Amino acid sequence: MPLRVRAWMVALGIAAIFPLPILLLQAPPDGLQRAELAQFLGRFHPLAVHIPIALLLLVPLLECAALAREQRHLRQSVDFVLGLAAAATIASAWLGWMLAWSGGYEGSLVTRHMWGGFSLAVASLACWGLYGWKRSAYALAMLATVGLLIWTSDQGGKLTHGDSFLTEHAPDPLRRWLGYKRPPAVDPTSFYAMRVQPIFEEKCVLCHNAGKFKGKLRLDTYEHVMRGGKDGPVIQPGEPGKSELFRRVTLPPESKDFMPAEAKPALSGPEIKVIEKWIVAGATTHIADAEIQGLLPSSEEKAPAAPLTADYRPQSQTIATLESTLGIRLVPRSQNPTDGLILRTDSAPTRCNDATLEQLAPVANLIVDAELARTQVTDKGMQAVANFSNLRFLDLSKTAVTSAGVKELTKLEKLERLNLTQTRVTRAGLAAAKMNPRLKGLYLFEAH
Ligand code: HEC
Repeated sequence: MPLRVRAWMVALGIAAIFPLPILLLQAPPDGLQRAELAQFLGRFHPLAVHIPIALLLLVPLLECAALAREQRHLRQSVDFVLGLAAAATIASAWLGWMLAWSGGYEGSLVTRHMWGGFSLAVASLACWGLYGWKRSAYALAMLATVGLLIWTSDQGGKLTHGDSFLTEHAPDPLRRWLGYKRPPAVDPTSFYAMRVQPIFEEKCVLCHNAGKFKGKLRLDTYEHVMRGGKDGPVIQPGEPGKSELFRRVTLPPESKDFMPAEAKPALSGPEIKVIEKWIVAGATTHIADAEIQGLLPSSEEKAPAAPLTADYRPQSQTIATLESTLGIRLVPRSQNPTDGLILRTDSAPTRCNDATLEQLAPVANLIVDAELARTQVTDKGMQAVANFSNLRFLDLSKTAVTSAGVKELTKLEKLERLNLTQTRVTRAGLAAAKMNPRLKGLYLFEAH
């Protein structure tokens, strides 16, 4: 390739990389989800990165193969492959930034990985710029690039699969050699495995898992629960009062530290008791279920909870039909068929509108949780929602609903949580609506 053309192409590459460090500094991933399109594109990042990885590794392979006299012709393709690799690396770094910024990521691991990706884009472009100009500088740059590639991919792998993905099933001698300890085995009949972990699974792991560890905390395994988060351990064995995790789930729901965050269904009284007893008993994994059960005040845990709704099973056929015609989901809240249904719209929020809500009339009394964020519903649709007589949780964030619509909801006597974030509901309008006294969690951030 003529030198001038190469210079132009490199300049173009620099222009494509240039905004990235600015974005990394000015719009770092902060754990929030935003921008549909950026998130859609960004999710291709974990797939797309394999292209630059393969191309960048192909370059030294071609160079080595070309050392043999009869394979010398391979050297002619290096320039092309390297140019392609540089372009693919830059594109992947962009996709990566989109994913991190819009997909709810945060923390030092993702930040390191992003700077790694950016450096890799610079390095691969530098390699291509140096190619055919200064052979020795090119060789050194290529070596450094491959090192950087390995490091960055490893960070990325840990982000998607968790930091023990590669070592988890390694043979013991290899693990010892690498310096990894096997996490303590959790006895499946223990109180922890049978009572505590299922609570985390149901209500916390959504935000505290290997891919998305809000507050740098993972709650998907015992090892991680005990390791704690950005402020250190969250469990102090024997002392629920000093355990950050326990403090957070027992705060008043409107507190900003309350967990679960974002008005997700809170822990029930018995669930909080289970966690408390577990911490009091030493927060281990080997205390048998029966042993701690003995410590629990018997009446509370064992009394069957009052049914939230009628049994949904006789309506299964209707539910299936509604799901397929309306493009929404009606998911049982738990294995208990009288715990009601969750109305989910998040796979296609724009498909759900006022007419959708009206058509849900046959199952209105079975819905306990309606997730209507970002849907097309308006005040008119609230008349249909007012007939969801067993509704406890309602998310209307980012919809066109106003104070007039909220007025319709006064009828909902069981409503406990209402999310009106980024709607046009005013405080005055809400006060005028006189919501029921059971309403404990009300979210109005960025509402007017
Ligand atoms: C909707 C997402 C979401 C859910 C669900 C959620 N959390 Fe969190 N959690 C966060 C975010 C965001 C942070 C970091 C911000 C903060 O510290 O408040 C956090 C932080 C924490 C921390 C503090 C970690 C530290 O070291 O500072 C604890 C403890 C915690 N969560 C416990 C829980 C528990 C227990 C549950 C389940 C009952 C839960 N979370 C459910 C989003 C969530």
